[in-house]
Amino acid sequence: MPKAYIAGTGSCLPETVLTNRDMEVMVDTTDEWIVTRTGIKERRICPRGMASSDLGQLACRKALEDASADPSEIEFIISATVSPDMFFPSTACLIQSKLGIRNIPVFDLSAACSGFIYALETARNFIECGSYRTGLVVANECMSRLTDYKDRGTCVLLGDGAGAAVVRSTEGEAGLMGSYISADGNYREILNAPAGGSYMPASFETVENRCHFMKMEGAALFKIAIMSMSEAVNKLLESHGLKKDDITLLIPHQANLRIIQGVARNLRIKEGKFYINIEKYGNMSAACVPVALDESNRKGILGKGDLLMTVSFGGGLTWGANLIKWTKDRK
Ligand code: UT7
Repeated sequence: MPKAYIAGTGSCLPETVLTNRDMEVMVDTTDEWIVTRTGIKERRICPRGMASSDLGQLACRKALEDASADPSEIEFIISATVSPDMFFPSTACLIQSKLGIRNIPVFDLSAACSGFIYALETARNFIECGSYRTGLVVANECMSRLTDYKDRGTCVLLGDGAGAAVVRSTEGEAGLMGSYISADGNYREILNAPAGGSYMPASFETVENRCHFMKMEGAALFKIAIMSMSEAVNKLLESHGLKKDDITLLIPHQANLRIIQGVARNLRIKEGKFYINIEKYGNMSAACVPVALDESNRKGILGKGDLLMTVSFGGGLTWGANLIKWTKDRK
């Protein structure tokens, strides 16, 4: 049976920076509150005229370059996003067209902040069943377009970005070793963007009542986030007969520094083993994990044989983790 591995990574962060000082002018908040309660110092904002697929496409190009792969080798594209350019066509179709690729299966995957983890697991299964040899997994998010810049409880948290990975098949050792993914739709009210779909179609009222923006019950989510991410790590380790010490690096979703610290405490894993870049980008939904993965790859943090675990949670609620053996040489 063929196995799957990550052959290259890429990311795209828009150049425009929105700092905590900028946020102080927009809502009743302070740099001190944001840093101490979340760990965030700044976030990136996608310029007008650009959308989710543009960030995704640029991240894919970098991942292709890192994998020394030509777009013509790509046999499928999965785009994880909750901020698609439009309802349809899928953002994956738009990325495909921008990359100049034709006649392959491409689709969007909606699992909010856990989207990249779900998509990587889907790609692993595509490859292991022998139907495909090379694919692109990309998470592209323009969360600023779903953000209510009058709601201080959410607007300080969110940012835009994209991260991608080229996944290839091998007859050798598995790079994508396995995943744990789960969801519970009973928590759907805790984190959502209620309007614009078939349940609450766009109307004058939905716009006036700001129903198209992301809504969040922050405090309730905070506790569930720590529990669900800890559960995902434990279950995945257990199913592979591994110990916490076997893990070289944990790449967590970057929703709040205090959530990451809570997970570290819960699991009794040193905070230093977690890759943290929340101060620069805030919460980019599904893009957090692949952007952190790409940074770890490019900074030479990852070396051949390292065992990584990604872990995330998000709207749905969804949560999950991937176990990855790094097979590339250290940069
Ligand atoms: O990708 C997944 C999605 N998001 C998350 O996982 C986020 C999970 N939740 C969190 O990260 C935290 O709950 C928040 C950062 C959202 C909030 O932090 P908190 O420590 O849980 O604050 P809180 O909601 O309990 O609010 C404490 C106070 C409130 O004031 P009162 O009611 O005590 O007077 C808020 O109104 O802080 C106030 N507050 C703010 N103050 C200044 C909320 N947002 C802000 C703000 N600046 N930006």
